Amino acid sequence: MTEEEIEKIVDRAYAETKIRYPYQGGFFSPRLKHINHMEVGRSKIIQSWYNILLEWIYEKWNAFGVRYHTWLKRVFPRRNVLFTGHIDSSLVGQLLFAEPAKDNIPIHNMHLEFWGRTKFYQWRKFGECSSDENGKFRLEFSLIPTQAWIIKSTLHFEIYQTTDILCEKGRMVHKQSLFKTIPIKKSDLIGMEYNLRIIRLFLWQYRPDSTIPRVYIKPDGTDAPEEYPEGRVRAMTEQMIPIELTKVKHLLQIEEDPLSLSIAQIQRDYPKNLTVAIEEKLPGYTRGDDWFGIREMNGMNMSTFQPDATTPGEYWVRYFGACNYEVNDEYAFPTAEIRFRMKPNGLPTPIEIHLTGPLNRFNKDPFQKLVVTSSEGEKWLQAKRVARVTSALCAELDQHLAGTHLNTEQYSIAAHRNIRKNPVITLLMPHVKSVSLIDNTADKLLIQGYIPSATALTAKSTEKRAADLLGFQDWKGWKPMKVLSDAHLYAKAEELYWQVVTEWVDLFFSQHETEIKKEWLEIYRMSEDLVAHSVPLFTETVNWDELSPEELDFTKRRIEYLAAEYRMDLNLPRKKVKGTQKAISPITESTVFREDSDDWQNLKDMCRYVITTATFLHTWVNEHQYEDIGEVLYSCLGLRFGEKETGIMAPESDISIAPDATRSTQMMWFSNLLSRTEYGFILKNEQKDMHPEFMELLNAKKKEFAALKVNVEEIESRTNI
Ligand SMILES: [Fe+2]
Repeated sequence: MTEEEIEKIVDRAYAETKIRYPYQGGFFSPRLKHINHMEVGRSKIIQSWYNILLEWIYEKWNAFGVRYHTWLKRVFPRRNVLFTGHIDSSLVGQLLFAEPAKDNIPIHNMHLEFWGRTKFYQWRKFGECSSDENGKFRLEFSLIPTQAWIIKSTLHFEIYQTTDILCEKGRMVHKQSLFKTIPIKKSDLIGMEYNLRIIRLFLWQYRPDSTIPRVYIKPDGTDAPEEYPEGRVRAMTEQMIPIELTKVKHLLQIEEDPLSLSIAQIQRDYPKNLTVAIEEKLPGYTRGDDWFGIREMNGMNMSTFQPDATTPGEYWVRYFGACNYEVNDEYAFPTAEIRFRMKPNGLPTPIEIHLTGPLNRFNKDPFQKLVVTSSEGEKWLQAKRVARVTSALCAELDQHLAGTHLNTEQYSIAAHRNIRKNPVITLLMPHVKSVSLIDNTADKLLIQGYIPSATALTAKSTEKRAADLLGFQDWKGWKPMKVLSDAHLYAKAEELYWQVVTEWVDLFFSQHETEIKKEWLEIYRMSEDLVAHSVPLFTETVNWDELSPEELDFTKRRIEYLAAEYRMDLNLPRKKVKGTQKAISPITESTVFREDSDDWQNLKDMCRYVITTATFLHTWVNEHQYEDIGEVLYSCLGLRFGEKETGIMAPESDISIAPDATRSTQMMWFSNLLSRTEYGFILKNEQKDMHPEFMELLNAKKKEFAALKVNVEEIESRTNI
């Protein structure tokens, strides 16, 4: 069969497996309560008719409440007219972050308003102001209008925050939401000044118990600093209900008779994925060397190819497995280093696989090594599968979780805590919102849930690994992946996207130059938060003197490879905070803009890095999950050691090393969850929060992206799944 014929079959398989469920739910169809109610076990879905009815009544009641409040706002509008006369009084005080209380961190540029209501419930505005750089405010007002007989006895001091950026009539506007109201007795306003003293706000607080910069969300999810839009929840429900019901059916069957459910049956019950569809037409193709090379280069992993030191045209892809992280006894997680040779068509073919670490339950030597070459028949097939599984778990944790989700959250927190007046908030917020919410869900579903039960890692070691990997990630000096050949579609698409984002950021900065420079203090404080809460640079955390020669060699190889993978220049001078060198570089060290510095370019570089990470990089690793880990026996996140001496070096037919039925159905559920429930695309602009100029720039490259097999319509605007 020619290459063209194979490509046609693969293209047809792509088209066949791009399933989206047309929502066919009726009134009594099962429904998902909320994204927060998703479980690896059984998600909280509402199935019985009386619960559906109760939920319907509850929803109607809520909708009535929303409509009632909208009606109230229309009947009693808050007109932006000041009721004032001679300014003779003021409200004073200071806004500080609630935690850490001892540090007294000021909250600058918060919008504050002072309102009263008449005895006929009409609103009257008496004054407004913003907190200054020290969080202090002086809201001046005229005393007489506040004391009028018609004004009710309680007045309202209101604190607002920007919760969204929306495009209205071609302009990006801040959506201000009431964060907190402090009631003031009208009778207490007797002098020239009323002191509200220190007001501590629980606003985008850092989690005190995490080494990774994470936002604090209460265990029950209440008081989260942001909310999912309704469309996000709806997309999840519509796509996931059929998948959830399949998983629940399997779990019930496993409970009753664990041996009655085969992996083949589980696979058949879920929608067909790419590899299954290809296998139907071209048996054995997805287990061959050509497909292995294509997926390592252009699949979910978008692997980094490191040139071999001595042989031109040969490359290494390295996936570092268990390393020295805590592992369980059930699953293997060896390091897989794969030597590739570049073929004349520009695609890599694997020629040698080096596996380091335990492959069975008997020999636990972490540095035992098995080298398998492409001429070794069945053993070569087994080694490729082991390498696929290691690379899948690394892609899930290193690239997806740490590289996009957790990486973006740290920028999201720093931006939300500090940027209010600076136009940079309108550039960043549409791309960094929601990530803290989905990361909070990932804590439960992935880190505490699936990973410890279906892979070698524990929840503790997953968190440690994620923290270590963030130690390789910095906006400074980041460059798109080097393109190795015409067939390197991923790298070419990344480079093209980077060009679009660069053009967009340049345009935005030229449009808003004066304001960005004027409100530089906000950039300085964001930078300070980013650096202070950043994890240490990874190399700083290694106890070099304690490493054995084998550990030293392994660690050096890992560091060199990960620095290339995350495109981090380890030699850049980096800032020390409390004696520790941090991974993230400062954007600026000055509270006012200085022309004689690199700060302007630094800020631009940080913005284009964050936008690219939160959109393109995340979309890629997220949406290809179902293609690369959507067939249990082809690849999964962990192979079991089993009881035999051969361990994980065994054929796919040896079910004792495959995930068990529970993990298999959960894995299928997971890959469906991640790849099929995306919502919030740049060009669809469902929430009307995308900048029209950015959309135009991206849309203009539609054909160029299509030539690289990227549909620009499917690039997500943020990391929210
Ligand atoms: Fe994701």
